Amino acid sequence: MKKVSNLLFAATALLAVLAIESCSNKSNNVTPVKPTLYDSLGGTAMVNDPAKAGTMIEKGRLGIRSVIDSTIFVIAGDSRINGHFTVLLAEVTKGDLSGFTELSDNLTTFVAVATGAKHYTYNGMSMTEAHDPAKNSRMNGKASSADFDAFVDDLVKGANKNGLPANLLGSVGKIVVSLKAQVVQK
Ligand code: HEM
Repeated sequence: MKKVSNLLFAATALLAVLAIESCSNKSNNVTPVKPTLYDSLGGTAMVNDPAKAGTMIEKGRLGIRSVIDSTIFVIAGDSRINGHFTVLLAEVTKGDLSGFTELSDNLTTFVAVATGAKHYTYNGMSMTEAHDPAKNSRMNGKASSADFDAFVDDLVKGANKNGLPANLLGSVGKIVVSLKAQVVQK
């Protein structure tokens, strides 16, 4: 009889331990989600796309695209580096915006994904390929370190045109600077 009650006691104790374990596991499952830089840039909230009536776009993507488009315009007028963009500029001068639209789209997706966007996939060239004139005929000549610094300068101007707060610009800037070795190839 004693044996049976000992067994019952052991089984009850084991069940109690399992119950406590499973409760504590449940609470461990509720891991707080850390906001990404993309979230701070506007995140996944859907807003009207001012460029396409009746179309919605993630607020984060729209903010990034606005900065990218402004930056491309700043670069177009920057004689320090616009010589690398001769193919694009010749198209735009003829009124052909297809290359501009594709570049804007690719650059926006690249930055969105780099800052943590989950709903987009970058399908463009790698940073090394995109900036190697032998692989990308749209890249007129290799970029130097000074070209890269001018590009960052123009990005800051593009960001300021859109009122991007300094702390967010700093965080995006860190990602951009981390890519310097892939972009600068001379
Ligand atoms: C970290 C900084 C940079 C990033 C993240 C970046 C990103 C990109 C991306 C995503 C593309 C499009 C690739 C594709 O279409 O598959 C591109 C194209 C290009 N980039 Fe950059 N880039 C950077 C710096 C520079 C610099 C410093 C220069 C020259 C001064 C430059 C010149 C170009 C040119 C000429 C193209 C081709 C544009 C066209 O399609 O007409 N980039 N870049």
